[in-house]
Amino acid sequence: MKIYAAKDYNDLSRKAANIISAQIILKPDAILGLATGSTPVGAYKQLIAWYEEGDLDFSGIRSVNLDEYKGLSGEHDQSYRYFMNHNLFDHVNIDKENTNVPNGLAEDAEAECSRYNQVIRNLGGIDLQLLGIGGNGHIGFNEPCDVFEKGTHVVTLTEETRQSNARFFSSIDEVPTHALTMGIQNIMSAKKVLLLASGEAKSKALYDSCFGPVTPDVPASVLQLHNDVVVIADEAALAMIRENTHWEGSVYDN
Ligand code: PGA
Repeated sequence: MKIYAAKDYNDLSRKAANIISAQIILKPDAILGLATGSTPVGAYKQLIAWYEEGDLDFSGIRSVNLDEYKGLSGEHDQSYRYFMNHNLFDHVNIDKENTNVPNGLAEDAEAECSRYNQVIRNLGGIDLQLLGIGGNGHIGFNEPCDVFEKGTHVVTLTEETRQSNARFFSSIDEVPTHALTMGIQNIMSAKKVLLLASGEAKSKALYDSCFGPVTPDVPASVLQLHNDVVVIADEAALAMIRENTHWEGSVYDN
């Protein structure tokens, strides 16, 4: 696992966009595993800017998103399908037919999870998986629990996650209680993983994930077992790592 220090959120976003754009240039038909949340928005903006300047071509790119709220349609402005359209897909030349997000409205959510696993398999696996991290160490919506769930599955969101995401809804009551999420095996099968962390609220989860024991209680800690993980974190998110490792540089090879 390599940890790269970013000065601030802008620096983090540019570094992340550089890595994603390198993937697109090196493999124009790459499978990108994409993430929602506030953290990747700056990277998506940068990718859009480079696309507008003629430097990036998304026409061959296929994508699979990590997760979706159960019960929200793709038109709901807090659904992750809506988020992806709004923050990236509507602004670049990706074919929407080539973009995948779990269907939050599927009548049979278990069947939808199996279908989604099959979608990932049929694509031949993920080349680059982008991840944010929850304040509780979740990746996708894999919440802290007793076991690592392997495939795409339905989860009950923790109160902490619902509270944290309530800022996007008019009240906490409107935040869905369940979600469909890729599992740990889906994520760990990606050839390369790029995890972004910004802000002090992520500092402990990031430290535990990179330096603590590998445990489903801190889902992101499983990434220590992956052989190609790049973490980009701003100084606020790095605070606890800096304090405990006495690392002062800009790249840490863990
Ligand atoms: P955030 O969410 O980017 O909005 O902080 C990340 C996550 O919860 O995975």
